[in-house]
Amino acid sequence: MINPSQTQLVALLDSFTTTSGTTSAPLFRRLGAVADRLGIECYVVGGFVRDIFLESPSKDVDIVVVGSGIAMAEAFAAELGRGAHLSVFRNFGTAQIKWKGTEIEFVGARKESYTHDSRKPVCEDGTLADDQNRRDFTINAMAISLNAHRYGELVDPFDGRHDLADGIVATPLDPDITFSDDPLRMLRCVRFATRLRFVIEDETFEALGRNRERIRIVSAERIIDELNKIMLTEQPSRGFVELHRCGLLEIILPELAALDLVETRNGRSHKNNFYHTLEVLDNVAAASQKLFLRWAALLHDIGKPQSKRWELPAGWTFHNHNYLGAKKIPDLFRRLKLPMDERMKYVRKLVNLHMRPIAIADDGVTDSAVRRLLFEAGDDIDDLMLLCEADITTGNEIRKKGFLNNFRTVRRKLVEIEEKDRIRNFQPPVGGEEIMRRFALPPGPAVGALKSSLKDAVLDGVIPNDYEAALAYLREKARKMGLSETPEPAENKTAAES
Ligand code: CTP
Repeated sequence: MINPSQTQLVALLDSFTTTSGTTSAPLFRRLGAVADRLGIECYVVGGFVRDIFLESPSKDVDIVVVGSGIAMAEAFAAELGRGAHLSVFRNFGTAQIKWKGTEIEFVGARKESYTHDSRKPVCEDGTLADDQNRRDFTINAMAISLNAHRYGELVDPFDGRHDLADGIVATPLDPDITFSDDPLRMLRCVRFATRLRFVIEDETFEALGRNRERIRIVSAERIIDELNKIMLTEQPSRGFVELHRCGLLEIILPELAALDLVETRNGRSHKNNFYHTLEVLDNVAAASQKLFLRWAALLHDIGKPQSKRWELPAGWTFHNHNYLGAKKIPDLFRRLKLPMDERMKYVRKLVNLHMRPIAIADDGVTDSAVRRLLFEAGDDIDDLMLLCEADITTGNEIRKKGFLNNFRTVRRKLVEIEEKDRIRNFQPPVGGEEIMRRFALPPGPAVGALKSSLKDAVLDGVIPNDYEAALAYLREKARKMGLSETPEPAENKTAAES
């Protein structure tokens, strides 16, 4: 909605209702009535207003009053009665009410000033205009009045609604001040541009570059929160291109920025791995909402700069880049404050294995190679295959068709082998405990040797994946190693009885 009339805004506001007992009333009228009773100006502002213009209303409502936000929240919580959960943050002068899935934040209009080394502003009471001046973007600085005599009146001093209509992210004031005050806004800027498919206005963009070093005062937790939001948009590459263009990427994720390099020797160039990576990321994003599969796509080639060699006759090679890339994942996750749990291991595994399906396809898709792949990927095999297919970004349609055909063969084989051999969650059919008992072995290298030889025998298809075959295989191996067998108690009994 580009230019709604006040009547349209009133209708929109009135569509948000609250129900108490059997009576239902428009939420914003009730807020306005409480503010009138307290004799203070009251507005709904920020993201909520932006999102109603975008016709995607959010459940988070921000209210600004010219006066005490806390007093307003207390009065409104009393008005809502039971079911309203009020939290007051006196240090910040803010309060929040949770009401049936809606969160309403209250704050008094304020002026802010910042010191050089902190994102925490010094605040003093101000007017609505002061409050709008301190906001990050024109599209986030609109307010709608809720007091009865001005109900539904839009206050839009920076023409945010036209920027919304034109698809522009711009700061309300001098962007150097907006970004230097709170450098997290630089990432918010890229995030809004990415999510809404907007362009960043020129002066605002230039200020991103000038202020990029200021991002260092922002905590890693805040940065990753924004990066994850960019990652979860429909086309995350847009965000990473902007981050790279303004120089922020170099500071936040230098491993990725380093991929933007093309070298040529004897007239032969390798591909630009930065733009290739972004294509892979978008391909994955089009197929899956999984955040960490998207991270795996973003990081799948970070081992390339380190592994790059010029080797004739092949030309440019990147041997082992998957392995070198996977090795970087734990430190990178730790630095970015990404989780160090199963999710890190998942990304590390996918990065490590991402060349495997293509190698298998090249080698003629043997059963044994497919079994090993299934064993190593386990339940993440489908995500791995998705990543590998997304990794084919060649513009050469014939080559592309060839690769996809090979992957279809790998996928078919994966299904066949899983049905036959159940390798996906493979545990060797005879475990270490039993090996130690049977062959009277203490924990040590001999047990490890028997276990890994059994695992290889199953994965290579030397024996089927079942207990009897595994036992027979182990007995033979143990005999060759000069080990004697102690019969299991159950077998003793059976032998004695028979
Ligand atoms: N805001 C700001 N600077 C920030 C964060 C927020 O000026 N660093 C202002 C903006 O006016 C914003 C409002 O506070 O609209 C509410 O912030 P928040 O709830 O974080 O963001 P939303 O804009 O609502 O969007 P989203 O929920 O998608 O983050």
